[in-house]
Amino acid sequence: MTHIDDQPTPMTFTAAPSLAGSVTVPGDKSISHRSLMLSALAIGHSRVEGLLEGEDVLATAAAMRAMGAQIERDAEGVWHIHGVGVGGLLQPETALDMGNSGTSTRLLMGLLASHDLTATFVGDASLSKRPMARVTQPLSRMGASFTSSPGDRLPLTMKGACPAVPLDYRLPVASAQVKSAILLAGLNTPGITRVVEPIPTRDHSERMLKGFGADLSVEIEADGTRIITLVGEAELQPQNIVVPGDPSSAAFPMVAALLVPGSQVTIANVGLNATRAGLIDLLREMGGSIEVINAREVGGEPVGDLIVTASILKGVEPDPARAPSMIDEYPVAFVAAAFARGRSIFRGLDELRVKESDRIATMAQGLRAIGVSVEELEDGIVIEGSGGAPLTGGGPIATRLDHRIAMSFAVAGLVSKNGVTIDDMRPVATSFPTFLPLLQQLGGMA
Ligand code: S3P
Repeated sequence: MTHIDDQPTPMTFTAAPSLAGSVTVPGDKSISHRSLMLSALAIGHSRVEGLLEGEDVLATAAAMRAMGAQIERDAEGVWHIHGVGVGGLLQPETALDMGNSGTSTRLLMGLLASHDLTATFVGDASLSKRPMARVTQPLSRMGASFTSSPGDRLPLTMKGACPAVPLDYRLPVASAQVKSAILLAGLNTPGITRVVEPIPTRDHSERMLKGFGADLSVEIEADGTRIITLVGEAELQPQNIVVPGDPSSAAFPMVAALLVPGSQVTIANVGLNATRAGLIDLLREMGGSIEVINAREVGGEPVGDLIVTASILKGVEPDPARAPSMIDEYPVAFVAAAFARGRSIFRGLDELRVKESDRIATMAQGLRAIGVSVEELEDGIVIEGSGGAPLTGGGPIATRLDHRIAMSFAVAGLVSKNGVTIDDMRPVATSFPTFLPLLQQLGGMA
């Protein structure tokens, strides 16, 4: 997927006096991808409200269209999908362009693994560096075959198996994408597909598969291990889906409001699924004032409005076992740590090295460039906080086609002496196309 503007868009973010106002963030990215995929596999008409209209989700929509689903946009965030039924996807005529989106790629590989078709996946420079063996290995055991670029990377061509062989799989890495890929493959596979998850990860696939009528159950063992069982050859029923606001996007205004002195910001309609809400717990442990009001359920997911008030933060050393519940939020959590009192030590974050960029290295390099003292570890980072003193600032920060790096350093700019320049803000369009107007609305940009 090419960006509308093919030239990098550098931007500088400078100190904000205070942030105020009430905002909403776009729909949850994980739930948006799954809404399109599962609706495309149901027989009949599904309606989705609050869909994230970011480039990653649009890549999923284009792929599902290329394989026979009818997908139309009605109004902002409101989409209609006419599904083809489980097993009914058609051979795509051209390569599936996944842009920057690892979730589209890995989940679709699972979905197609049990279809009788051949598909080629291509992506941008960032996605083409990311490892795919974590999905090609289990999906090969189900009968699919793959021809990948060196290192199990994109471009990659896969041939699905129909019928596929059901798999009983213990996840070697805490990854919702791998779990979901196997479950999606299991939908069109005769027999029982089982995924054993020693460390819980986001459970949107399980919730939504059940909501669409699949026969799926989850058993939780005494040590917290989750065993997910799916009966194959499922028939999915079309749904009306309401997508909650993305907690991973809410993370940016949340941290900005905590850091910029005198701020108070309300972020309405934020998804609060426990498998995603780790950053809120972490920021509270650091001393952050985050109040949840209007707690409710929307579309089978817990949701609430957050009132965030500027607070003096202190350093933390979070337990690595909590990593999956805030896996995408570490970059902005590192910015909070850079402004806190004392030292923060983050460990057990090997997975951050294979995100849209190597987020440990990219954050360490960027934080140093704006005057923060950091030590990069193999599996994490040690950050010396400024104790609330403005960060020096500087740049340009190399964002390496990583939306969350760009937004994290934009937040850092709001509490800097000299401003923080980001080399390229375009990647923000993958997950949070309204980031700049939202920051402007809160008073974070001139
Ligand atoms: C996602 C799972 C996570 C997360 C990604 C979205 C999903 O990836 O980082 O942004 O929607 O399943 P991993 O499965 O690689 O941890």
